[in-house]
Amino acid sequence: MARIRVPKVQEMRDAGTPIAMVTAYDAPFARAAEEAGIPLILVGDSLGMAVLGYETTLPVTMEDMIRHTKAVVAATSRAMVIADMPFLSYQVSVEQAIANAGRLVKEGGAQAVKLEGGREMASRVEAIVASGIPVMGHVGLTPQAVHRLGGYRTQGRDEAAARKLIEDAKALEAAGAFSIVIEAVPEEVGRMITEAVSIPTIGIGAGRYTSGQVLVIYDLLGFTPKPAHFVRIFGDVRSQVVQALKRYREAVESREFPGENEVTHADWVVKDSQGVAKENGQ
Ligand code: KIV
Repeated sequence: MARIRVPKVQEMRDAGTPIAMVTAYDAPFARAAEEAGIPLILVGDSLGMAVLGYETTLPVTMEDMIRHTKAVVAATSRAMVIADMPFLSYQVSVEQAIANAGRLVKEGGAQAVKLEGGREMASRVEAIVASGIPVMGHVGLTPQAVHRLGGYRTQGRDEAAARKLIEDAKALEAAGAFSIVIEAVPEEVGRMITEAVSIPTIGIGAGRYTSGQVLVIYDLLGFTPKPAHFVRIFGDVRSQVVQALKRYREAVESREFPGENEVTHADWVVKDSQGVAKENGQ
């Protein structure tokens, strides 16, 4: 089956089919996401916090994003893989934005890129799209602006702020974005933005009325110590991992592992000085 591409995502939105997106950063989880039938995989720059242990997404580099995008693309054949553009890979100039989006596609193998920001980023979106690369926008809580926003806080809480977010989303659509992530806004704002544009919106903490939803994979699998209130843990995989590792440690410590069936016997045997084989190579 061919990869999911932009027209299919738009078709899903137009048909009212909810779109599930999840982040993945490596081959095993990307393979699992695809096996679960998830159509859109985001190699998010949440990589920095979820995998690399940073406090913010800001230190994530182009090299990080290319390496992890390559792994996700290599492990999938059906899902659309969208690569996040890391902090300062597109803000500095239109030229840099095109060049770096191009690297994520050429070197990473992504089918689309995502960048944060509204009206102020419309020129970047337009230029990247003009070069042939689909762009997903991202409004509301934009983690690359965490210091300006004063923390990971809900955005669009008053009417003026909500109106600005709607204008941002419209500007991204006009610039050619094929879809928009809406992060951490009141449910009414998620709904108003979704109704204001005719491209798919993918919500995270944006309520029930967006065209789709996205979650960070380690959040939904229970790996995040204090997840945001809008996260649902769909399976406490972390506890299962800890339990499995404990069982492994105990088996090693008690010499129960490796067992008889988990060892390899040599196909030669030690012989004594008379050339008689010693049992079990003894
Ligand atoms: O980096 C990321 O994982 C994201 C999602 C939260 C949308 O941008």
